[in-house]
Amino acid sequence: MRVLYLELLVLQVPAVSLGPLIPGEHETDRSHPNEVWGEQVAIGIGVTSELDFSPALDKIEDFLLAHCWCSFRLGHGIRPYGRALAPRIGKTPSPCRATRVTWENGREYDPPMLLGRQAEQAAIDRLVQRARSGQGGGLVLRGEPGIGKSALLAHASQRAEEMGVLRSDGVEAESTLAYATLHRLLRPILDQAGCLPEPQARALRVALGLQAGPAPDQFLVAVAALTLLSEIAGERPLLCLVDDAHWADTPSVQALTFVARRLDAEPVALLLALRDGHDRRVEVAGLPELRLTGLDPEAAAALLDLRWGASISPAVRDRLLREVAGNPLALLELPGALSGHDALPDPLPLVGKLEQAFQERARRHDPATRTVLLLAAAEGSGQLATVRHAAGALGLDPGLLESEGLADLVRIDGPTIAFLHPLVRSGVYHGASPAARRAAHQALADALESQEAGDDRRAWHRAKAATGPDDEVALELEGSAWRTLERAGHGAAAAALERAAELSRSLVDKSRRLVAAADATWHGGDTARARALLDGAERFDAGDAAVRLDIRYLRGLIELHAGVPSDGLAILLPAARQAVRLKHRRAPRMLLAAGDAAFHAGEDVAGEIGQLMAGLPADGEPGQAALIRLHQMVSPPGRAADPVQLRRDLAGVEELDDPEALVRAGNLAHQLGHAALARRLRAKAVARARALGAAGTLAWALHYLVLDELVCGRLAWAQASAVEGWRLALETGQPNVACQHQAALAGLAVLRGEAEQAHRLAEGALAEATVRRLVGAAVAARHALAESAFLAGRPEEAIEQLEGLLRLVPLGHRGIGLYAVPDLVEAAVRAGQTERGRQWHARHLAWAEGASSAQARALAARSRALLASGAEADRRFQEALRLHAQTDRPLDHARTALLYGEFLRRDRRRAEARPPLRTALEIFEQLGASAWTQRARRELRATGQTVRKRHPSNLDQLTSQELQIVRAVGEGLTDREVAAQLFISPRTVDYHLRKIFRKLEIRSRAELIRRAPAGSASASREVL
Ligand SMILES: Nc1ncnc2c1ncn2[C@@H]1O[C@H](COP(=O)(O)OP(=O)(O)O)[C@@H](O)[C@H]1O
Ligand SMILES: [Mg+2]
Repeated sequence: MRVLYLELLVLQVPAVSLGPLIPGEHETDRSHPNEVWGEQVAIGIGVTSELDFSPALDKIEDFLLAHCWCSFRLGHGIRPYGRALAPRIGKTPSPCRATRVTWENGREYDPPMLLGRQAEQAAIDRLVQRARSGQGGGLVLRGEPGIGKSALLAHASQRAEEMGVLRSDGVEAESTLAYATLHRLLRPILDQAGCLPEPQARALRVALGLQAGPAPDQFLVAVAALTLLSEIAGERPLLCLVDDAHWADTPSVQALTFVARRLDAEPVALLLALRDGHDRRVEVAGLPELRLTGLDPEAAAALLDLRWGASISPAVRDRLLREVAGNPLALLELPGALSGHDALPDPLPLVGKLEQAFQERARRHDPATRTVLLLAAAEGSGQLATVRHAAGALGLDPGLLESEGLADLVRIDGPTIAFLHPLVRSGVYHGASPAARRAAHQALADALESQEAGDDRRAWHRAKAATGPDDEVALELEGSAWRTLERAGHGAAAAALERAAELSRSLVDKSRRLVAAADATWHGGDTARARALLDGAERFDAGDAAVRLDIRYLRGLIELHAGVPSDGLAILLPAARQAVRLKHRRAPRMLLAAGDAAFHAGEDVAGEIGQLMAGLPADGEPGQAALIRLHQMVSPPGRAADPVQLRRDLAGVEELDDPEALVRAGNLAHQLGHAALARRLRAKAVARARALGAAGTLAWALHYLVLDELVCGRLAWAQASAVEGWRLALETGQPNVACQHQAALAGLAVLRGEAEQAHRLAEGALAEATVRRLVGAAVAARHALAESAFLAGRPEEAIEQLEGLLRLVPLGHRGIGLYAVPDLVEAAVRAGQTERGRQWHARHLAWAEGASSAQARALAARSRALLASGAEADRRFQEALRLHAQTDRPLDHARTALLYGEFLRRDRRRAEARPPLRTALEIFEQLGASAWTQRARRELRATGQTVRKRHPSNLDQLTSQELQIVRAVGEGLTDREVAAQLFISPRTVDYHLRKIFRKLEIRSRAELIRRAPAGSASASREVL
């Protein structure tokens, strides 16, 4: 089947320079004179027959094709004219479009048309259109090779009129080079990185290897990329295309998905195309996906006929249609490989068949040409100069790459060389013998020797050229890994370290490098892989004590954050014991981590940790030393406090800068009863984590802030922080932290009276907490379920939940008792089981009557009141209210007031009941605790008082993200500072601010700042 004629349109190339070039440029039988419209030239290339050219340009434009890929697709060796001619006439490539193709059988094929992809095209069009109007987003195109992902990306870029288009393709050879894909995407706009806030600009430059500096947090790099894209898109909406994302390096993928999740208010669309079931797992969680399946039978048949017409037998045609399941690449390419055969080569899977077809195409060339092709395939990233250099070194003619005959395999475009389809590359590569592949990599490594900044690539080529263990190569690769880590490229560094381990001769080196790989992987957020690497490290155990400790420390940390904290404790504590004995540098950290694990597992080993801490040398970092001394204070039996030292240490920890240390210091201060200091430390931890762009630590630090906000009754703020923390915890691979946030969100939903959502969140958190034995989260989730049941009038169920909760903690855990037993007593009384309530009170709460904390005594007095009657009850209620007034826990205060009011009303003292009920109502309303508000209102009505419905505060309408913005603006930050703190772009801040202004009916920032601290909202109904 031959093309009868093909028309191409080359825009904006002066006619004069083209004329003489045309005859030699193609394999046509005859060329046609050019037709000229002003500056624009149409070149018609009649393949066999006459040119039938429509003179009306706009009409031609209608069925213009995407760029040159159409002519490749037709597979007739027709060169992409626009690009092929451009270098010869000294012009930048101009778009070259085939306008019409007529086949021998008289049918016409309109190349711009993608067959059978209407729905997918429409989805892409919508995305692009939304981005244009400022509501961008990300979309993942997923499908097997040849299914048409790249073709759809081309469609997207056609639709991007008047938008800026940035593009970057993942290439296999660069999948181990940190930020290679991101770098390529941002390259055209990097010169504008100066518009970023300084820390972001620095982080981005360091990550991309453009500047030296301390390793930035990888999330700071991602937020820098987001901000840069957002700024550029301010001038012109942007379309970002990332093809073959399954080969993009892990740090780039993480940054890009982070960006894609934050594009709602940006004129930016980000499309990622990736292979299904590829052996490199790419995490693109949280992005919408479009899964491409084969063309429907009708479209598949049409494509086959258009391309092959009658040149294939009906039997082959039927079999193809049956077996390739509508894969367009197979439909276009396989019949060519079958010439002569009547059947498909069995039984390879489709990808294998396609690769084989391309291999055969390559095999038609002479050995020298095949070797240069292999060099290009092994080089893999398309740098023509490197390939040519390597070819020259092997004594081959580098010019072979440009030979006409290769046009159906590779395309040369300026300084780059690309394969027509990735399967062509993999076909060529895997078609070569292992020895030939190694030789190619060696030649490429040598070629890179002379190139600056080729170090990482060279190390990798050398590693691929190695036949067996090779310490020198391993060392070079390890060096590359450390450089990568300095650029926050954890995922990529891990790959280098893993390969370095494989190449290492000694067991110690092997296991040491595997631990380092595991550490990098873990920091890159891939827990499962990190665990597998640690298993490997253990398998190569060479008895090195330091390496073994490193393995246990990392295992413990992983369990603590993403696994089962009690297992983490079982690993960390003995390891810490040994570390203390060996005076290992990590001993203090291990002890602190063991303390965290014990906390989450609800296990009481503070005594032993305290003792071990006493064995640490006193000359550690000053901040850490203070932390350790404070730790010993809270560890039973509690070291007799030296008041001067204590004061000094408490002041000392305020000077800490490291957010993790600040969180720990906050917890210790809390346990030592210094609530205000604890709050300051936690707030500072959050602020520092934000300033460093340390999203992982921020997620964790936010949890403690949430607890603080909760006890202070600042429900809206608690909600805002919990939502942010929950999202960040998931994004940073810390499911345990996410679970805690989720449990807190469940409790908040209960208070807001959103029973259904509360139930869903609490059940989810409880299930997860049970599997991982997360005591803190399980307690919070059960508490939420109990409160919810109680409020819904099912006190028996509440009792059951609360008793379940108390079974989770070792007997005598006073903090938890204080948190749950007052509710349990209330539920028991309501269920008519006063005796049961009395027992719980005696077991868990009686101690509180003599406690020094007003809060504990207030709650104990309230429970006593509930268990008593008559004057005794009255007296106890009043005592409780007096004590509550000395605390800053309004929610508990209001609940006691409500109970007292109910008691008085039942005692027929209606007038006396009103004041406490009014107090309760007022506080509940102020906090936004709607579930309780309703109750208080009902009670108040029952006393005969008319109750006006309070207008919800305007702040109630704000989402949690808007609230976070209000808070940050309230602190006097600029938009850009707010953006940096919240990991969003300044434009998104601006977008939300406009919404906030509208919702609050205010006009100025000053007004917002005035209103910000009130914060009585019951914000955020967004469903998680
Ligand atoms: N819907 C379609 N109609 C016609 N040709 C198509 C269609 N989808 C893909 N093709 C062609 O099939 C070949 C493989 O498509 P490509 O987009 O490169 O696949 P992928 O990127 O998924 O590997 C290309 O030549 C492309 O032009
Ligand atoms: Mg593709």
